[in-house]
Amino acid sequence: MTTEQLPEHVQHNREYWDGMADRWVGAGERAWRGNELTWGIFQIPQAQAPLVPDDVNGLDVIELGCGTGYVSSWLARRGARPVGIDNSEGQLATARRLQQEHGIEFPLLHGNAEEVPYPDESFDLAVSEYGAAIWCDPYRWIPEAARLLRPGGRLAFLGNSVLSMLCAPEDENEKPTDRMLRPQQGMHRFAWEDGGVEFHISHGDMIRLLHANGFEVEDLIELYAPEDATDSYFNYAPAGWSKQWPVEEIWKARKVS
Ligand SMILES: C[S@@+](CC[C@H](N)C(=O)[O-])C[C@H]1O[C@@H](n2cnc3c(N)ncnc32)[C@H](O)[C@@H]1O
Repeated sequence: MTTEQLPEHVQHNREYWDGMADRWVGAGERAWRGNELTWGIFQIPQAQAPLVPDDVNGLDVIELGCGTGYVSSWLARRGARPVGIDNSEGQLATARRLQQEHGIEFPLLHGNAEEVPYPDESFDLAVSEYGAAIWCDPYRWIPEAARLLRPGGRLAFLGNSVLSMLCAPEDENEKPTDRMLRPQQGMHRFAWEDGGVEFHISHGDMIRLLHANGFEVEDLIELYAPEDATDSYFNYAPAGWSKQWPVEEIWKARKVS
């Protein structure tokens, strides 16, 4: 498929992420070096926020929007067979270099996670850490994840919380306050000025979407900043705010039909 044939938001995000890839090299290198599974801006340990099953040995895993591929690298070290797909060649170049440096190989595909070139029921686990979870249209990528998973397979994804999206200022240099800046009703597509196109839907809409695609919701884990946290690189997630309100959320679902 040529770039011109991709949905408009995927074309836009390809250009955006190819332009951003250099800025994510350092984070990718650090994450590949770390062997611990931690999640989100405040690096919450897997033991506190179990996004993936503790035992992934022998599982076929698709990482939807794998970026630098560090989540797949963690899973591969634990015996899983991951495949990563990402929309940005720039991000995949980093992932490929890190694969060679660490001697951990798994397939990396350049493409849209809303349309993955694998047969139905190829995987046991579909995972996304800020990949498809926020950059793909949920009404496209959730049905695609359902198609890719075997019966009983698991879907796990992490992204910004609904509350954080309602309070995030348009200007990325400003921090959120305790004021909601936009309505929850109808929330779906977020096109940030000078940024990418993201997707965030309400909890009720997400539950209905998951059910409609044969998933049973197993958990919704809301992530807060730990008590000793200080501000991070991300302006939209100041530590003070994130200790009071969930700044990120993990969804876990199982394919039951
Ligand atoms: C914040 S990164 C997160 C990925 C990974 N966890 C990491 O930290 O490297 C977001 C990634 O989503 C990818 N992405 C955006 N839209 C996508 C799409 N439609 N299909 C696949 N990947 C997409 C971007 O190219 C980018 O690499």
